[in-house]
Amino acid sequence: MPPSTASVPPLTREYANVHAAANSGVGQARTAHGSAVAIAEIGAGLAAAHASVSPKFLYDALGSRLFEAICELPEYYPTRTEAAIFAEHGAAMAHAIGHDTTLIDLGAGNCAKAARLFPLIHPAQYVAIDISADFLRESLERLQQRFPHIEMAALGLDFSSSLALPPTVRAEKRLFFYPGSSIGNFTPQEAVDFLRRARAQCDSDGALLIGIDLVKDSAVLDAAYDDPLGVTAAFNLNLLRHLNHLAGADFDVRQWRHRGRYNAAESRIEMHLEARHELTVHWQGGTRLFDAGEAIHTENSYKYRSSAAVGLLEQAGFQAMNVWTDPQGWFAVIHARAI
Ligand SMILES: C[S@@+](CC[C@H](N)C(=O)[O-])C[C@H]1O[C@@H](n2cnc3c(N)ncnc32)[C@H](O)[C@@H]1O
Repeated sequence: MPPSTASVPPLTREYANVHAAANSGVGQARTAHGSAVAIAEIGAGLAAAHASVSPKFLYDALGSRLFEAICELPEYYPTRTEAAIFAEHGAAMAHAIGHDTTLIDLGAGNCAKAARLFPLIHPAQYVAIDISADFLRESLERLQQRFPHIEMAALGLDFSSSLALPPTVRAEKRLFFYPGSSIGNFTPQEAVDFLRRARAQCDSDGALLIGIDLVKDSAVLDAAYDDPLGVTAAFNLNLLRHLNHLAGADFDVRQWRHRGRYNAAESRIEMHLEARHELTVHWQGGTRLFDAGEAIHTENSYKYRSSAAVGLLEQAGFQAMNVWTDPQGWFAVIHARAI
């Protein structure tokens, strides 16, 4: 069927509105670099006793492409394990979810996972949200060509502090789709707070379909986040280039090395960037001397036991209806309804 422009919503207008809001910071002064809010957040993290930067800054357009490459790596089991669960249990998921949902994809990236759901659940509206706004727009435009009959909108926004949805998003049967174990980037308490915000955005007919990475052998985890090809290292190091752009920093990528390692006591993968030698970094409004070996903490990826994952959802106001896992018990996809 050729694309029917009559049935396609004003995607670019919707996108333009939210894209402008996402990149300028709503009501925030904009500098020659990123928004004042982003610069302040980055500066506070870099100046902290243990320097850290939110993983959301890993995703500029190049970061999003590097993440796609990570998903192709044999060592990166989450993507293919989750895909196998969807392939095995897709019919049961479709039965549990039903048709005509408002499918809200949190951190949609290239939207590929939602696209595989479309033929199963036939959503009435698809709303893709991502901080990597340019990459999202391109992904959604391609998707709209493939599925011209589904109403779509792209929201380029940072959902870490607020998840307010515009009135153009249907209120009926909202299904928050949060695959890829991205929930693991939050601490458990932050994860509950985030899911509560999602819960607050749906009525009693709302639901959640979420992918959660489970505790497993640390060798499997270490290999997944520090691959021999160095793709994950490039993904992590690209953050420094993004900070140069956003905060006017002067990081030299070659002076830093990637570290990705499982911290069993905290049940999380930690990614760090470690200074190869003593060096000074400047950014808009700040400067710091890093000792050789001193690191910036760039990402956590928490691994859960199934029961703890279900408990997390309950604390946020969702009740798990189905927990699907792979035969090795490495990954879980949970369908939960609003309570
Ligand atoms: C690990 S990737 C997952 C992509 C895709 N959903 C998947 O499962 O393959 C995380 C995605 O969330 C987006 N993201 C991260 N932090 C975000 C934030 N604070 N607000 C909006 N999107 C965010 C990233 O840009 C990225 O596309």
